[in-house]
Amino acid sequence: MIYLKTPDEIEKMRRACDLVSQVMGEVAKQVAPGVTTRHLDSVAREYMLAHGGKPACLGYGGFPGTLCIEVNETVVHGFPSGYCLREGDIVGIDTVVELDGFNGDMCYTFMVGDVADDVRRLCVETKNSLYKGIEACKPGNRIGDISNAVQTYVERRGYTVVREMCGHGIGRKMHEDPEVPNYGRRGTGPLIKNGMCLCIEPMINLGSKNVVIESDGWTCRTRDRKPSAHYEHTLAVHDGGTEVLTTFDYIAEALGDRFI
Ligand code: MF3
Ligand code: CO
Repeated sequence: MIYLKTPDEIEKMRRACDLVSQVMGEVAKQVAPGVTTRHLDSVAREYMLAHGGKPACLGYGGFPGTLCIEVNETVVHGFPSGYCLREGDIVGIDTVVELDGFNGDMCYTFMVGDVADDVRRLCVETKNSLYKGIEACKPGNRIGDISNAVQTYVERRGYTVVREMCGHGIGRKMHEDPEVPNYGRRGTGPLIKNGMCLCIEPMINLGSKNVVIESDGWTCRTRDRKPSAHYEHTLAVHDGGTEVLTTFDYIAEALGDRFI
């Protein structure tokens, strides 16, 4: 069941999305070699709580963190831990804030210090593919148009698309219908309509597309242990167009010329 949002509800989505974007800006200030992912998690949780938000991942299905931490070969849903970030790592940080009953969801993959060229390029092209998906998200198109735009862009560049996890609708719940896969055929899937709020989140691998879930039941990593990148925005379709509700601007401000 797809819930179409009213303008008032979209305004609440806008606020939740601005808060989650600020949270990511705060986290961005802290990402550096030697910092533990648990430290990033507490920075995020405290910022959310101080601004009236609820860390929506914490306790979700038993998930133990505010942030999902995705170091190198981790694709999604890694736990915050005592792991110290190292020069050359990439770390995807994915989080959701609930504010006034609505959820904002975003992910950004950060580079820790200098990163190998091929891995840096994976990050840049994964982020580009997110914007290709966003361009294809407009009323009258179908979800498969988004999926196909992402897939075509990354596969032409030699990367692979994770199949097991998808983008999704969002609103009062973190995950609502429809699913938004990062692979698929143009002209298929649900029609995109005014009032839809969607998360587009390409999860793109440098090596093969295959993933495994670790024995903790959550941490998803590439089977070949090659790196994976992940970027996500929350969008609202309204008045015949698409508004990107989350922003990487706070991250850009925090990183300065290190922003990619
Ligand atoms: N953005 C992530 C997702 O859509 C958030 C997961 S929160 C978790 O899957 F609690 F499930 F980890
Ligand atoms: Co999401």
